Amino acid sequence: MDTHGQMQRTVERLTSSGRGILAADESYPTITRRLSDHGIESTEENRRFYRALLATTPGIGEYVSGIIFFEETLGQKTDDGTLIPEACEQQDIVPGIKVDKGLVDLPGSDGEKVTQGLDNLGDRLDGYRAQGALFTKWRNVYAISEGTPGIQALEANAEVLARYAAIVQSRGMVPIVEPEVLMDGSHDMARCAEVTEAAQTTLFAALRRHNVRLEAVILKPNMVLPGKDLPRPTPEECAEETLKVLRRTVPAAVPSINFLSGGQTAEEATANLNAMNQLDGPKPWVLSFSYSRALQNPVQAAWNGNAANREAAQQAFLKRARLNSLARKGEYAA
Ligand code: 13P
Repeated sequence: MDTHGQMQRTVERLTSSGRGILAADESYPTITRRLSDHGIESTEENRRFYRALLATTPGIGEYVSGIIFFEETLGQKTDDGTLIPEACEQQDIVPGIKVDKGLVDLPGSDGEKVTQGLDNLGDRLDGYRAQGALFTKWRNVYAISEGTPGIQALEANAEVLARYAAIVQSRGMVPIVEPEVLMDGSHDMARCAEVTEAAQTTLFAALRRHNVRLEAVILKPNMVLPGKDLPRPTPEECAEETLKVLRRTVPAAVPSINFLSGGQTAEEATANLNAMNQLDGPKPWVLSFSYSRALQNPVQAAWNGNAANREAAQQAFLKRARLNSLARKGEYAA
């Protein structure tokens, strides 16, 4: 198969009916924070045990089409000695890999960040590919304040995200592009909509500049929501404002939009996705999930670092995944 054929096949698998993506790709500092919230130590063995638990949850392939991992996980094994990417494939789950190297300061800006990780990316991808990864993720962040994000941060971040996507596609892998407008702060929904629209518009201009094939890209955006210090909108309000922005900015050639949860509760993230799929009006893309916290919080709470809770943790994962699968079809009832 040529690179287009390979990407097409991966997109078909990732977008297959009723399924979405699990982001289990937390870097060392992030997974340490998440696990310590539940009093669990982030040792290599705990990370292996936990991510193997996720990938081997019986029946999870009905709801999860892909799992994004951190590079450590690609070489780790399940309790029965199967490599974790192989265990995913056994349930028809596509293994993916986070490839960005995190945030650094953007000099000349008002305290803004840019994502790094382009150096040697092609070589790194060849290695991940040999370990079974067929798709990738790169995350940009945009913090909202009165004067940010500025045009410099929007343009610089869009440029690296587009270069990343072009390099990934040159390897026949499918890039998830994640321009995340953060929920931190006390801005209103209209301000989040304005910034999200600017981030998406700038990103798609850059993707075009770099000849990225939109049919083989998955967009992972934030939902349009007020800052987290403010009262929460209804799912219908969130769906309406989010789809308004996406209709203005995301070409119909993009096959799938898989939202991040960004600090929403598990229930809020499910209800909001459900409302998007129920909303009338044009929706030329699959609207699904690529949640980390909204899928994993209940699982980590159930596991609690105790191997005896393995099955209870898998049941918690199965439940959240099943409810989000219903939401992806607009069939979830809170
Ligand atoms: P959340 O769903 O927790 O926002 O994480 C998504 C993600 O992968 C961020 O890069």
